[in-house]
Amino acid sequence: MVDPGTIYPSFVEPAPEPGQWSQERLRSLAGELFADAPLVVVSNREPYVHLPDRAKPDGLSWRRPAGGLVSGLDPVLRAVEGGLWVAQGTGEADRLAADAWGRVAVPPDHPSYTLKRVWLHPNEVAGYYEGISNQGLWPLCHVVFLRPRFTIRDWQQYQKVNRRFAEAVLEEVGDGPAYVWVQDYHLCLVPKYLREARPDLTTGIFWHIPWPNPEIFRTCPFGAELLEGLLSADIIGFHIRYHGANFLATVEQTLEARHDRERREIIRSGHTTRVVDIPISVDFDEEEATAQSSETAQWMDEFRNRFKLDRFEHVLLGLDRFDYTKGIPERLMAVDVLLQEHPEYKGKLVFLQVGEMSRIQIAHYQALNDEVEKLAQEINDRHRTADWQPIELSRNPVDRPDLMALFRLADVCVVSSLHDGMNLVAKEYVASRFDEGGVLVLSRFTGAARELPEALLINPYDIRDIAQRLHQALQMPEHQQRDRMRRMRSTVRRNNIYAWAGRFLREMVLGGV
Ligand code: F6P
Repeated sequence: MVDPGTIYPSFVEPAPEPGQWSQERLRSLAGELFADAPLVVVSNREPYVHLPDRAKPDGLSWRRPAGGLVSGLDPVLRAVEGGLWVAQGTGEADRLAADAWGRVAVPPDHPSYTLKRVWLHPNEVAGYYEGISNQGLWPLCHVVFLRPRFTIRDWQQYQKVNRRFAEAVLEEVGDGPAYVWVQDYHLCLVPKYLREARPDLTTGIFWHIPWPNPEIFRTCPFGAELLEGLLSADIIGFHIRYHGANFLATVEQTLEARHDRERREIIRSGHTTRVVDIPISVDFDEEEATAQSSETAQWMDEFRNRFKLDRFEHVLLGLDRFDYTKGIPERLMAVDVLLQEHPEYKGKLVFLQVGEMSRIQIAHYQALNDEVEKLAQEINDRHRTADWQPIELSRNPVDRPDLMALFRLADVCVVSSLHDGMNLVAKEYVASRFDEGGVLVLSRFTGAARELPEALLINPYDIRDIAQRLHQALQMPEHQQRDRMRRMRSTVRRNNIYAWAGRFLREMVLGGV
C-alpha cells in the first residue's frame, strides 16, 4: 500500500458519508485514484459469457452468469473509466468473441471496459476449480458438514492456474504501475505471484465467502501456503468483522507473524497486510429502476400466466444457484411442515423455487439436484389436490428483468442459506420492492442478516422455525410489512454497491484516508 502522505497529494476528495455513494461518486473517485495507474480486477468467473447463436449476424449472443460476485462487480467496472477485468473464458463462443490476447470489450451491448479471458485446459478446470476451489475450500469455509477434499494433484493445478492468472495480469500491465484487485478463494496465490514478479504493484483481495475458525482451517493441508499467498496482498477484505477476526486468529495460529490488533494488520517478512470488513451490496438505484420498467411488467405477466399465479393468495419464492450451502431442501421441508400444521393454506399458496444449476461436474451438486427434485415431488404428492400442487421448480436461467419480476410477485422471499458470506438475493429483493411490500425470511447465518435485522430471521437447520416464520410472514399485517421493508430499503440504499467498492478502493489505494 502506498504511503498517502508522500505519494498522494490532498486532491482526493474526503470519503463520502454513508448514503452519499452513487455511481457518479465512484466514477469521480476512480478518476482520481486511477489517473496514473489502472485498476485491474481478477476473478475466476467472467462477467459476460458468449454463446453460439445462429440467429445473430456474428453468430454470437451473450448473457450474464449467475452469482453475486459478477452482479456486484460489473456496475463497479462500468463506473471506472478504462478498467480491465481478467477472468476465465469458457467455451468456443467466448474464444470467437475475443481477440488474439483474449480481450473483448464489455458489456457487449454498451462497451465500457475490457474483459481479458484466460483459457484453461479441462484438467486445469478439474483440479483448480472443481477440485481445490469447490470441493476443498468451498465446503471448508462454509462449514456445512461436508468433508472437504484436498488432493496433491488438484493442488498442483490450483498453483498452476493461479500463476496463469498472475501472468495474464502482468502481460496487461507491462512495466507500468497498477492496482490489482483479486476476488475470492479461487485465486489465493495470485497476490504472491504478483509480488514475486512486481513488488511495486499494489494488490488487494476480497474474500467473498465465510472464513472458518482456526480449528476448521487447520485441517487444510495447504493452509500455510494459502495464507502466505493471501498475506502477499496489501489489503484483504471480508464482508463481516467476524470472518476477518477468524482470519486473523487463523494467521496467528498458523504462521510466524506479528499481529497489530489495533490496526488489524499482519506484518510478515517486512510486508504489511491490513484486514478490513466492508459488506458487498447491490446497485440499489439500477435494481429499483429495472423493477419499475415495462420489461419487468411484461415478465410479471409472463410468470402470472406460466404459474397461474392469479389463483393464489400467497406467492413464496426461493431464488438461488443450486448449491448445497443455500438450504434449498430445508426450505422445501418447511413448506411441508407449514401445510401439515396449517392445512388452510392448501390451494392458496405456491412456492416457486427458481435458479440455475451450478458446478454440475461435482458429485455433491448432482446429488443436490436429485434430492431437491425428489423432495419436491414427495411434498407435492403429499399435499396435492386435483388442480393444485404447492411447489413449482424451475431451473431456467434468470436475468435482470425476469429476476425483478419474480421478486415483485413474491409476497415472501425465503433465503435459507446454511452459511453465506453475504447473500445478495436478500438485498436484491429489498431493492426491487419499491412498493414497500413483501416479507424477507432470512437465514441468521448470512452476512446480510447483520444489516437486515428487520427481516424474519431463521435458523435454517430448524425446519419448524422456518415453518413458523413462513406462517408469520403470511399473516403479517401490511403496515408492519411496509415498516420493515422501508427500513431495510433505507439500509441497502445507503450501503449500496458503490459504497462497497468505493470504500475498498480508497482503503487499497490510500490506506483508509
Ligand atoms: O462468492 C462465491 C462465488 O464463488 C462467487 O465467486 C460467485 O459469484 C458464485 O459463488 C458463483 O459460483 P461459480 O462462479 O462457481 O458459478
